[in-house]
Formats: sequence, structure tokens, C-alpha cells
Amino acid sequence: MIVRKFTPNDLRRVFEIENMSFNQSYGIDMFQQLYEMGVGFLVAEENGYVIGYVIFWIKYENQGHIISIAVDRNYRRLGAGTQLLVKAISILSLLDISAIYLEVNENNAGAIEFYKTFNFKIDRVVPGYYEDGDGAVVMYIPLNRGKVSR
Ligand SMILES: CC(C)(COP(=O)(O)OP(=O)(O)OC[C@H]1O[C@@H](n2cnc3c(N)ncnc32)[C@H](O)[C@@H]1OP(=O)(O)O)[C@@H](O)C(=O)NCCC(=O)NCCS
Repeated sequence: MIVRKFTPNDLRRVFEIENMSFNQSYGIDMFQQLYEMGVGFLVAEENGYVIGYVIFWIKYENQGHIISIAVDRNYRRLGAGTQLLVKAISILSLLDISAIYLEVNENNAGAIEFYKTFNFKIDRVVPGYYEDGDGAVVMYIPLNRGKVSR
């Protein structure tokens, strides 16, 4: 498995993975726009087949943010999500930021467990964050001079 930069050729496959992973979709045009905006956008590839992606950026001046991460359901629990997030965190850690934040659906226990393996802590819950009324758990890891603090 390799992790590499997203290219526009990956668009359909990323959209497919997003569709099987979330109830609500950003839509294919949004992925294109995010790419054009220059956000961090990586894919995991297994024998030439894209099996997952991660999108991240600097949300505020000194705050990293994981926008979206998903792995094809047929390839989960094989370490792809970990490889994607490790790479995203290592890129963000090179920048002068104080923490990495993300939002995850409060009912998405699997993803919350996944983030906990990286030592993401729960910051707060935002009721009604998602369009369907579900709340979001806001999670973060503090960074100390570019290093993940534990
Ligand atoms: C969350 C997600 C990206 C994890 O990707 P993955 O490739 O399956 O993750 P990994 O194989 O690297 O998992 C690493 C560890 O995280 C934990 N973990 C991952 N998925 C888990 C789950 N569903 N339940 C409990 N723990 C989980 C486990 O400790 C796992 O290690 P193990 O398999 O040795 O027990 C994937 O489940 C996914 O795409 N989910 C749907 C989309 C989503 O929820 N994205 C996050 C939204 S914010």
C-alpha cells in the first residue's frame, strides 16, 4: 500500500468511497474545488487501486483541520486509515500550528475509536452540527513546536 498525492484522475474513485462511507456527500464538484484550493489531499493505493483518501488544511492561522477521511469498506481494518492519517499529521506537524482538530458524527463510534488510537482527545460536542440533526464530537491533538504532544 502506498500513500500519494491526489490527482484529478482519482476524483471518481474518491467520490465513490465517500458515497459508501457517509450519509451526506460533499459532491464530486466540491472535491475538485478543494483540490484546486490547494488543500492537503492524499490517497491510499493498493496495487494501483485507490482504497482511501484524506483531506486536510489549515483552518485558522495556527490550527490544522482534518476535513475528511474514508477508506473503501472492503479495505477497512487493514491499516489504510492509519497510514493516511499518519501522513496528514506529519505534513501538518511541519507547519507552525498549535493543534489539529476534526469533527466526527457523535454516532460514529468506530471513527471515534480510530481517532483515539492517535491520542485525539474529545474537546466538546456540538449538537445538531450535521444536516440530519446529528451532533458532532470535536476532537483534537495539541502540537508542541511541530511535534505531536502525548
Ligand atoms: C474511520 C476509518 C477511516 C478507519 O480506516 P481503517 O483503514 O479501517 O482504519 P485502520 O485499519 O487504520 O484502524 C486502526 C485502528 O483504529 C481502530 N478502529 C478503526 N476502525 C474501527 C472501528 N470501526 N471500530 C473500533 N475501532 C476501530 C482500531 O484500533 C484499529 O486497529 P485494529 O484494526 O488493529 O483493531 C474507516 O472506518 C472509514 O472510512 N469509516 C467511514 C468514514 C468515516 O467514518 N470517516 C471518519 C469520519 S470523521
